[in-house]
Amino acid sequence: MKITLSCIKADVGAIGGHIRPSARLREAVEQFVKEKAKKLLLSHHINMAGDDLAILMVHERGVDNPEIHQLAWDAFLEGTRVAREQGLYGAGQDLLKDSFSGNVKGLGPGSCEMEFEERPNEPFLLFTADKTNPGAFNLPLYLAFTDPMHCAGFLLSPKMAKGFTFTIMDVNHTEGDRVIELNAPEELYDIACLLRDNERFVVESIRSRSTGEMGAVVSTSRLHNIAGTYTGKDDPVALVRTQGVFPATGEVLSPYRIGHYVAGTMRGSHNGPLMPVKQNGGISFFDGPPIVTGAAFCVHGGKLTEPVDVFDHPFWDWVRNNVAQKAAEIRMQGFSGPAMLPISELEYGGVVEKLGQLDRRFVVREEKSHGSHQHAGAAGRAKQAV
Ligand code: F6R
Ligand code: MG
Ligand code: MG
Repeated sequence: MKITLSCIKADVGAIGGHIRPSARLREAVEQFVKEKAKKLLLSHHINMAGDDLAILMVHERGVDNPEIHQLAWDAFLEGTRVAREQGLYGAGQDLLKDSFSGNVKGLGPGSCEMEFEERPNEPFLLFTADKTNPGAFNLPLYLAFTDPMHCAGFLLSPKMAKGFTFTIMDVNHTEGDRVIELNAPEELYDIACLLRDNERFVVESIRSRSTGEMGAVVSTSRLHNIAGTYTGKDDPVALVRTQGVFPATGEVLSPYRIGHYVAGTMRGSHNGPLMPVKQNGGISFFDGPPIVTGAAFCVHGGKLTEPVDVFDHPFWDWVRNNVAQKAAEIRMQGFSGPAMLPISELEYGGVVEKLGQLDRRFVVREEKSHGSHQHAGAAGRAKQAV
């Protein structure tokens, strides 16, 4: 049976700042989807990560289906209605356009989808991240789908020997989807060369080279490219099929032990380590750290099992402690150097405005004339700007 997994997510309001949606908001979205599901969906699941809600839908209508996208959009409108009623912070934050036009892409919500022939056993993972951007998935996906240090399958399973094809998107290009396909392992260094830049080049999807089957998809929107101004980070979602020709579930999870530094956290303008957290948790220290949740499912005949929370395990408590330490370390240096993002990536205009004002007060010192023995304080006195 051919099915489509669609995950569409948005932040439409949260309690106490950008922390976590209210129970009523979640229920409203859930109720709405449940009602519409009767006609359109085989099954569904609602997931929360920080201040974001993600709707996972299983159906037979393929990717980019207008009715499926409309369902999610309308569900978020319903959530926004409740958020306004409750006075939640940032009500309707990610619904950037007034009217829906067939696809949520470009309207604010993030989405990732894949259509495939269901295997007799179809395990997959749903990752949802908050206070970061889609490039946060670059390193974990690169490691799981190319590196035998994390994916033992490259040594032990002949099914995986041919490697994977990465489709990578240049998210700075706003006039259309600018993508490149690169094959691992032959073009590993080229893949790494692009994926080192999490802000510009983002893994969009990964396919098996043995079977051509889609293995992973990531949401790739850039909210500030849509809105033209800061509207929150593009907290991403990803779907990853596991086992068989794909890395095993544990191999896909392995890189999350690193807690690598990603862009996001406070005001979307800092670097912080990505912390793998349990489902439905909120956001805390310095509007962070950036978090990722992981839910494992099986789907059969289009019906989802209940999710298993893959980061709810004593091993990840130890990881969380280490990651918290990394978060504290980088916060020690506040705004300095790599703690804060470069100007091009700052999500608020304050620094740029200030630099503009300060620029007018800079002076260029007159050059000292040759052979002068005068004291620098006199000869080198700054010429005042006029
Ligand atoms: C980061 C984020 C928060 C807010 C911060 C200020 O993605 O959502 O860190 O940027 O809480 O929020 P505003 O500008 O809404 O007061
Ligand atoms: Mg928010
Ligand atoms: Mg968010």
